[in-house]
Amino acid sequence: MKTKIVKIETLDEASLKNLEDVAQLIRAGETVVFPTETVYGLGADALNPQAIKKIFEAKGRPDDNPLIVHIGGLDEVEPLVANIPEKAKILMQTFWPGPLTLIMEKASMIPTEATGGLNTVGVRFPDHPIAQAFIKMAGCPIAAPSANRSGRPSPTQGKHVLEDLDGRVAGIILSSDTELGLESTVIDMTVEPPVVLRPGDITVSELRAVLGTVAVSANVTQNIVPEKVSSPGMKYTHYSPKGELVIVKGTPEEIREKITKVLAHYKGKPMTIGVLASDETMGFYREGFIISLGSRNDPKEMSKNLFSRLRTFDELGVEKIYAEDIPLNNETLALINRLYKAAGYAFI
Ligand code: TXA
Ligand code: MG
Repeated sequence: MKTKIVKIETLDEASLKNLEDVAQLIRAGETVVFPTETVYGLGADALNPQAIKKIFEAKGRPDDNPLIVHIGGLDEVEPLVANIPEKAKILMQTFWPGPLTLIMEKASMIPTEATGGLNTVGVRFPDHPIAQAFIKMAGCPIAAPSANRSGRPSPTQGKHVLEDLDGRVAGIILSSDTELGLESTVIDMTVEPPVVLRPGDITVSELRAVLGTVAVSANVTQNIVPEKVSSPGMKYTHYSPKGELVIVKGTPEEIREKITKVLAHYKGKPMTIGVLASDETMGFYREGFIISLGSRNDPKEMSKNLFSRLRTFDELGVEKIYAEDIPLNNETLALINRLYKAAGYAFI
């Protein structure tokens, strides 16, 4: 497939013309990649089952995995859902547009192809001027998973999108690097109390501050304590770099010691080793490819960088990556959730 690629940084007149061309592809039932504030999304008309099938084909994604439906304005949510719970209204008023996906009961106009057969739908109003203009121009809600091939790290830069999807989608909007770098917080509003299914930039504390009690899915909480991972050794392929990623646990001193030992072990051997460190710790290591995730004191910076750093190791041909563990708190939950998944819960 020849992919129509347009570059848009700001919404000037020439860009609007380009945007109209790719919005037209959505109306024709085709797939278009677009930037959001979290990661790039692989979009298609959420009301068109044939178009939705093309998303799953392009990604190589199992079709029982539900998609998020993106809207371009607050007023667009109502027709998509059976009802809007009071607490969902509060979250919309507080956090939309923004990196928060609300799971609600779906209206009949949403085809089950978009929801993986579920009776619920995830809706998100992204906080990105190009995404908003694009959805408005397309004139329909846009179903969009992250724009990576299934199993790969989500794309935060235009070049990641081209790597994964050039030739597999009808259109791509290339823009600046995405601001947040991790996918939206997903919260199920169909249960009481609401449950966070996927942590993201909107933190559990922020949600509790406006809603009171908010639960966090056991899938999230149990998997950050390695002893409690439900099926250890289970082969996850989420967010994964091509090299084998291992998390190094312990006190800062223990982590430094373990990694130094591993690097010494591989010295002079043909295996290409990498270390995912921080600004504060990268100077400790003398062998292999040492890459900083950002400053230990800046979880937002580390979150923004995670997926692109994993792809950098791939570009360098790194076969084994040792990642320093990150202390768990409200601000690092989403980052740790993605990092551990990317490692398939492999720890030393
Ligand atoms: O930031 C984001 O959310 C990005 C951008 C493109 O908006 N999109 C994204 O989509 O990350 P995706 O498909 O990679 O992840 C969607 C997540 C999955 O974990 C899926 O299981 C969950 O949302 N989800 C979607 N609809 C759901 C539903 N009805 N019930 C439960 N979980 C749902
Ligand atoms: Mg994804």
